[in-house]
Amino acid sequence: MNIIFLGPPGAGKGTHANIISAKYQIPHISTGDILRMAIANQTETGLRAKEYMDKGQLVPDQVVIDIVKERLAMADCADGYILDGFPRTVAQAEELGTFAKIDVALNLMASDQLLVERLSGRLVCPLCGAPYRISALGGDLTCRVDSTPLILREDDKPETVDKRLEVYHEKTAPLIDYYGKLGLLRNVAIDGGTGEDIPVETVAERISKALEEFA
Ligand code: AP5
Repeated sequence: MNIIFLGPPGAGKGTHANIISAKYQIPHISTGDILRMAIANQTETGLRAKEYMDKGQLVPDQVVIDIVKERLAMADCADGYILDGFPRTVAQAEELGTFAKIDVALNLMASDQLLVERLSGRLVCPLCGAPYRISALGGDLTCRVDSTPLILREDDKPETVDKRLEVYHEKTAPLIDYYGKLGLLRNVAIDGGTGEDIPVETVAERISKALEEFA
């Protein structure tokens, strides 16, 4: 299955893409993680991307399209993959359609209020990208996968989070309609409708159920 995880910043795309990747044994491809790795390695692409990411803006379409095209051509994508954070504009979705066949676009839906709370309470692993809620870490601020000390993401500062949400509504939310018209969209609510969290396990069950139709 070739799956897209759509959704605003903090909706849980990375959290659930990790779960589904392990369940179906297909790679989890996060453009955000690839770009952060490029920044850490100080590549030309990374240095260019950093200017946009630190301000909460989108990296230019062609930069991410080239990254994804190259990644999807790798052998481990032959039996399926999960795209997390790509596409993020209609132009990216149109281009993706020229070199990939998408089976389902899963849209994680949440209120902006919950997203702001989540992002301000998140730490991530700089090595593998795994996200954690500070409140659930119990004082041990290291990655449970590889023991790397966790960090606060540069773009999780409150003013940058506001900008990311604004950019999401303007540029990425139109993809809900785009994939809806193609008959590929499945919506999954990640809050209880009044702004409160639903446990990760419950959201994971909803996602698995939505995907069973396509498996
Ligand atoms: P990216 O890294 O893709 O960030 P994002 O889309 O803003 O999403 P996040 O990673 O912030 O959140 P998430 O939805 O993965 O949630 P998470 O699982 O961590 O992109 C960063 C930047 O890169 C962009 O702003 C842009 O500049 C650039 N970029 C990337 N792709 C691009 C593209 N295609 N085009 C152009 N530019 C691009 O969960 C959030 C928190 O909630 C965590 O702490 C988690 O533990 C917690 N949580 C999750 N589920 C639950 C639950 N059910 N209950 C309680 N807590 C939960």
